[in-house]
Amino acid sequence: MSKPSNSAFSAPKGVPDYVPPASAEFVAVRDGLTRAARLAGYGHIELPIFEDTGLFARGVGESTDVVSKEMYTFADRGDRSVTLRPEGTAGVMRAVIEHALDRGQLPVKLSYSGPFFRYERPQAGRYRQLQQVGVEAIGVDDPALDAEVIAIADAGFRSLGLEGFRLEITSLGDDTCRPQYRELLQEFLFGLDLDEDTRRRAEINPLRVLDDKRPHIKEMTADAPLMLDHLSQEAKAHFEEVLAHLDALGVPYVVNPRMVRGLDYYTKTTFEFVHDGLGAQSGIGGGGRYDGLMEQLGGQPLSGIGFGLGVDRTVLALAAEGKTAGSPARCEVFGVPLGDEAKAQMVVIAAQLRAAGIRVDMAYGGRGVKGAMKAADRSGAKIALVLGERDIVDGVIGVKDLATGDQRQVQLGEVVTEVGAILADG
Ligand code: HAM
Repeated sequence: MSKPSNSAFSAPKGVPDYVPPASAEFVAVRDGLTRAARLAGYGHIELPIFEDTGLFARGVGESTDVVSKEMYTFADRGDRSVTLRPEGTAGVMRAVIEHALDRGQLPVKLSYSGPFFRYERPQAGRYRQLQQVGVEAIGVDDPALDAEVIAIADAGFRSLGLEGFRLEITSLGDDTCRPQYRELLQEFLFGLDLDEDTRRRAEINPLRVLDDKRPHIKEMTADAPLMLDHLSQEAKAHFEEVLAHLDALGVPYVVNPRMVRGLDYYTKTTFEFVHDGLGAQSGIGGGGRYDGLMEQLGGQPLSGIGFGLGVDRTVLALAAEGKTAGSPARCEVFGVPLGDEAKAQMVVIAAQLRAAGIRVDMAYGGRGVKGAMKAADRSGAKIALVLGERDIVDGVIGVKDLATGDQRQVQLGEVVTEVGAILADG
């Protein structure tokens, strides 16, 4: 992503621009991931980019880094505290409650895509404006639904040609077993020789300590009790059923009992998609069940499960595998008019072709034939239409195959049919 050298401004730090031709890759990834959700009956939900700050504090959890350190929060001109959404789930729950979608048919299945904002330290694959495709399925606590959500993400990545990723999965238990486990873990952690910061973390959110990457902490916590060994009967049965469904679906997974997510609302099934070609920022998607969230936000005590897939990181993961998902071609046909009269005609021909559903661009600005042909090549078009003053008199137009260089004249009145036939032929 290069910057024009003489620009007075640049994009905010840590915020990517996607410009052509690379933006085609971004669009293909976003649309490919969204399509996987559409195939499973998820309806589109479009939500505000900013919400009441309290929604995220209450929904995502005040002890999380996302809420305590990374939110873009400001007072609007009416002195209300608003926050640029750092994630999508809390906003979806707010809208489901507000519009009483949970009073209709369950599960409520919704999908979304768009930008989210986190004031993180920028690095490769970690941006302050990040793009996600997400789904949420609300109101039914069924392991088959957990498996569906996971399988959609897996299918979405694979539909793009991505291969070098793995699904890590665990269960974070429910409110009948998690409080006891938390105590057990704290007891273990308080018995260790921890520095003050880590001890404080153990008090607020002991699970986070298991995610500490420092070698000496890793060593000390190697024998820590794990949630998976202390699940309630119900949570255990739920988890085993999810795994059985994934087996039946042929979705490969690795159970990672030490997985820790950055958001507080998760219960039971929790998962992450990890790609090894990305360095430190290896999570290309993540999600899980959040059975207490709706009630916490003032709604009914309904369960939910969903995911957020990182579009930016998936673009990088594809590049790391040497693959492309999008076509950089802006158009299929490029018009090359030679002279003013030809240009006037070409404008009309281009509109006719567009009306027939063909993607067309043309040379503007009185370029010479050389420059116009160069523009035709750069556009990625398959066909150039070449129109000279003489052709107009004869009522013909040159149709040039830009791959082979072959050119033939066709009747002007036939150009839409002829071009359509060539493109249909591949
Ligand atoms: P999350 O794990 O925080 O989950 O984010 C989901 C994905 O967004 C990550 O796996 C990653 O690919 C991408 N992502 C997150 N932060 C950044 C960043 N700074 N730069 C680039 N990509 C990033 C959630 O947001 C949950 N709302 C997912 C969910 C939906 N859980 C249940 N339903």
